Amino acid sequence: MEGSCCVSVFLVWGLFIQTSAYGQSPGTGPFGGRPQDAKTTENSLQTTKTKFLLFEGHEGQGCQIRLNQPDSLQQCGFNTSRPLVMIIHGWTVDGALESWVWQLAAVLRARAPVNVALADWLSLAHSHYAKAVHNTRRAGHEVAALLRWLEEAARFSRSNVHLIGYSLGAHVSGFAGSSIGGEDKIGRITGLDPAGPMFEYTSPSERLSPDDASFVDAIHTFTREHMGLSVGIKQPVAHYDFYPNGGSFQPGCHFLDLYKQIANHGLNAITQTIKCAHERSVHLFIDSLLHPDNQSTAYLCSDMDSFSQGLCLSCKKGHCNTLGYHVRQEGQSKRSKKLFLVTRAQAPFKVFHYQFKMHFINQIETPVEPTFTMSLFGDKDAVHKIPITLGTGITRNKTYSLLITLDVDLGELLLIKFKWENSAVWANVWNTVQTIFPWGSGSSSSGLILKSIKVKSGETQQRMAFCSENMDDLQLHPTQEKTFVRCETTSKKTKENNR
Ligand SMILES: *[C@@H]1O[C@H](CO)[C@@H](O)[C@H](O)[C@H]1NC(C)=O
Ligand SMILES: *[C@@H]1O[C@H](CO)[C@@H](O)[C@H](O)[C@H]1NC(C)=O
Ligand SMILES: *[C@@H]1O[C@H](CO)[C@@H](O)[C@H](O)[C@H]1NC(C)=O
Repeated sequence: MEGSCCVSVFLVWGLFIQTSAYGQSPGTGPFGGRPQDAKTTENSLQTTKTKFLLFEGHEGQGCQIRLNQPDSLQQCGFNTSRPLVMIIHGWTVDGALESWVWQLAAVLRARAPVNVALADWLSLAHSHYAKAVHNTRRAGHEVAALLRWLEEAARFSRSNVHLIGYSLGAHVSGFAGSSIGGEDKIGRITGLDPAGPMFEYTSPSERLSPDDASFVDAIHTFTREHMGLSVGIKQPVAHYDFYPNGGSFQPGCHFLDLYKQIANHGLNAITQTIKCAHERSVHLFIDSLLHPDNQSTAYLCSDMDSFSQGLCLSCKKGHCNTLGYHVRQEGQSKRSKKLFLVTRAQAPFKVFHYQFKMHFINQIETPVEPTFTMSLFGDKDAVHKIPITLGTGITRNKTYSLLITLDVDLGELLLIKFKWENSAVWANVWNTVQTIFPWGSGSSSSGLILKSIKVKSGETQQRMAFCSENMDDLQLHPTQEKTFVRCETTSKKTKENNR
């Protein structure tokens, strides 16, 4: 599976690279000038290559807003007392808008009191990749020209503007923000898996960066590298950079899932699957609008490794934030914050994150590697038999920390059942151990104790400690299930009280 999913990565990467031999820097060109040029080019921009469409109540084409034609604003029903959200698409192979554009526009219209527009730069984006990259700057300048004109003609402040750019569109947004000129910045830019090739590790002025708007957020979903290139940019480019599932690849996008897709949707599913992880950024954003009560929280962390150990579930000092439309727009520093989270493979994407810290004591010399399952019981729901893999064998006295994510809301966690599953391998070891160690003969003692389980919930920030229900028999035994109940963190006191 690992190998086959790389095939899809390779295909996308191939699409990009096939054309980047073209090899131009995006930095120069007819519209690569300084912001001051903007005024002088204003007139020539009356007919921009980029078309601006305002979405009206119903599905369809959208109504075209024409630069320097104030009538078009009224005709299209632009409401100046509402913010403007402008969707900016990415590179296109077939010259057509992808269906997510309409989905996102419809959801924005339905769920947020905003004007929803599209910057249609298809004529500039429908090209070799390198040429399209080159054109992002021009498209960005045209967006900036429209926003300046809105300020002049309709007294519509740029601070009320939110640009949402996908892939190359994220960098178009960045160029719009950096070239608009004047004191004020655009209100917000959201980069949905900003494109990587020809942007990765360039200077902030050559790509989307936190300088481009008062608030910049980005969702990175397809940063898996292949021969030094990744479809989505890996480096942080925003104030808050979200890396769902680590950002490199997304659950549900594997090649095996492709076969299911083909069965359901025919061969069209192939391109869908290739784009799956890249486009997941869009669907996570749509999900955040569709499920206001089920917002996904992401947590500041250095990397996915630490996150997978459950070490980064803090919300102190703005260390966590909400993924998507409802992100908390605060704490902008020059430095980007990298936030991580786990998601489900399909909508609704939210999961509940928990850190489990398990303190084992192994009285036997040899490290043991048993398999455990854990069942969790809360006041709202329960989850049964979660497999627990500790990675390394249990030595004398060791605390393991791991991240457990759940699709369901347990409510308050009340009880844990911990079971030592009897694997064939272990059974053998166990028999040997019993013959070596005299206390094993009665099988009343295994020499392995799970002293305590400490739990921290990311979503509620609650900390809990669990101790064995039966303090007289602390030993774990193969195939036996042990019940752990809430106890005080200061374990000594609890022991005395329980006895
Ligand atoms: C414009 O938006 C404002 C604020 O949401 C709303 O009160 C008003 O009714 C809207 N005007 C029109 C013509 O829809
Ligand atoms: C979504 O939110 C509602 C309301 O808070 C809650 O009852 C429900 O359990 C949530 N669903 C999921 C999947 O989290
Ligand atoms: C286990 O290690 C901790 C910290 O190193 C120590 O405080 C504790 O006494 C040890 N417990 C046992 C039973 O060895």
